[in-house]
Amino acid sequence: MDLRLKSFEEYKSAYKSSVENPDAFWDGIAKQFKWIKPYDKVCEWDFRKPDVKWFVGGKVNITENALDVHLQERPDQTAILWEPNEVNEPALEISYKELYHKVCRFANALKKQGIQKGDRVVLYMPMVPELAIACLACARIGAIHSVVFAGFSAKAMADRINDASAKMVITADELRRGDKRLNIKEIVDTALEECASVERVIVYQSKGEKHNWHEGRDLSWDEAEEGCSDDCAAEPMDSEDMLFILYTSGSTGKPKGVVHTHGGYMVYATYSFQNVFQYEPGDIYWCTADIGWITGHSYIVYGPLISGATTMMFEGIPSYPDPGRFWKVCEKHKVNQFYTAPTAIRALMGCGNEFVEGYDLSSLKVLGTVGEPINEEAWEWYHKMVGKENCPIVDTWWQTETGGIMISGLGDHSPQKPTFAGYPLPGIQPVIKNDKGETIEENGFEGLLCIQHPWPSVIRTTYGNHERCKQVYFSAFDNCYFTGDGAKRDENGMYRIIGRVDDVINVSGHRFGTAEIEDAINQHPEVIESAVVGFPHEVKGQGIYAFVIGSSNIHEEGLEKAVRAIVEEMIGKIARPDHIQIVDGLPKTRSGKIMRRILRKIVANEADQLGDTSTLLDPEVVDKLIDGVKT
Ligand code: PRX
Repeated sequence: MDLRLKSFEEYKSAYKSSVENPDAFWDGIAKQFKWIKPYDKVCEWDFRKPDVKWFVGGKVNITENALDVHLQERPDQTAILWEPNEVNEPALEISYKELYHKVCRFANALKKQGIQKGDRVVLYMPMVPELAIACLACARIGAIHSVVFAGFSAKAMADRINDASAKMVITADELRRGDKRLNIKEIVDTALEECASVERVIVYQSKGEKHNWHEGRDLSWDEAEEGCSDDCAAEPMDSEDMLFILYTSGSTGKPKGVVHTHGGYMVYATYSFQNVFQYEPGDIYWCTADIGWITGHSYIVYGPLISGATTMMFEGIPSYPDPGRFWKVCEKHKVNQFYTAPTAIRALMGCGNEFVEGYDLSSLKVLGTVGEPINEEAWEWYHKMVGKENCPIVDTWWQTETGGIMISGLGDHSPQKPTFAGYPLPGIQPVIKNDKGETIEENGFEGLLCIQHPWPSVIRTTYGNHERCKQVYFSAFDNCYFTGDGAKRDENGMYRIIGRVDDVINVSGHRFGTAEIEDAINQHPEVIESAVVGFPHEVKGQGIYAFVIGSSNIHEEGLEKAVRAIVEEMIGKIARPDHIQIVDGLPKTRSGKIMRRILRKIVANEADQLGDTSTLLDPEVVDKLIDGVKT
């Protein structure tokens, strides 16, 4: 199935028809997939509820499109190319035929353990092929997977398991990341002390140890598969049946479970993959993300596999054993498309050119970035040092909620401009609004980025709380999806993403709600109040800055340590504040609201531009904060 647009002219014409007649446009694409029963209608929608349905009445299973359809044409082609953490271990090649059988066998194992269509299964795994296999096996039988990034704490996992009432957890005995080794089964054990819904835990044993085994609950991967056939008919799913839940942070409350469905997600992840990366048969494609994030779901697993691509999975980290690892792997496997995050590019750039220079990167055709704005310096370095000025850079803007890339260049077909994501993909209708909800038609103005017509992989709901989905995404502006991002169009209509306009911060491409981190900090008995804001960070994009008021029972150093520890316990190491400033007071309005705008200015070293401070209850507080600011 070749869905690629092959020139900018073709893109423009496709874009035009996608706006003039979205149903006909998507029908032309969707009918190229394998449907168990064809759909009756392309799209039904009402953003106000929100109620969005794509490929209505159709029956489909995404795994038939990712596996079965390739058995005739490319059974022996490598589907997953796995590069282990350790350089001296061989890479693993899993062909489409092998992948099909591995998925079927594990799907049967899940069934044997009582997992049925609609059941939720949480995956807490290292970046090993079994993670992709487990996702596909769930989808095969109609179970809903929810991958929790294996950097989240036991408490964060427990919250996600409980929110989804998951019946099963799949994990591993060991996670390897660089020179670190972590027994993640132990973390699952701790999480499950709070989770009554989980009946079974399947443990992928790379080390083979049965650590703290709960008889009757824990089962090794091999034991689970014993006696299971390696053929398993795909469960016919309604287009709108849930495929997965993926938790992501918002500006209020606990992370929410973003829901994607079989039909629409399948079509959009595939269409966007082929077009953005201009994947050609035989290419080796590498996305360095973890499957714990949406990027891994859409652009390691589903989009590439449905396209019949060879998709690489990397277990390690960019700096191990040295900061040349990415380029070493690109050379070794002759990678053609390489997709990573600006934070990785900045970190590697800081390590010096000598780590790139020695490698043959001539196989590279397309470079991509995702997750946060890329600054010009990093863009130029990537373009010159990695792409040797021969590769287009696709700066892909999208979100967990959008399921797929929304604004981006398409391979080398589109004009490029550093720090601009570019043009919307066909089917995507962005608009920029002002605070009053009016659409800004003219180019050159900054505003709030919204999307005004559904696309097949738009978020359907937030698991267990549809009202929240409505409030967060569909209520700010009438009949529009609100992204939470600020954006600007240049004179040619190219989009530049400015960043979040809500209380979400983006640390190394990972999203956290400031409220979520404050909630964690406030759990500490010696904390009276806290306020968390993001600050500009050279490598991470944004860093986490916490202002904390402590009780008189604890000294400053002890409190700082305690704050770091509680964030690690409640969310995970990835959310630990970079700076903690212990303070006596926070800038508040007369009605008691913390003026975050002021805190953001202080931590950005822009205290000379505080703006209007006349509503402050106690202006002296601000001077004290400025005096003690940490950088
Ligand atoms: O602020 C935008 C930023 O990341 C947010 C989405 O985060 P998440 O759901 O975790 O998904 C990340 C991977 C798709 C967006 O609201 N963002 C993502 N890509 C870009 C970006 N900001 C600027 N440029 C991008 N290319």
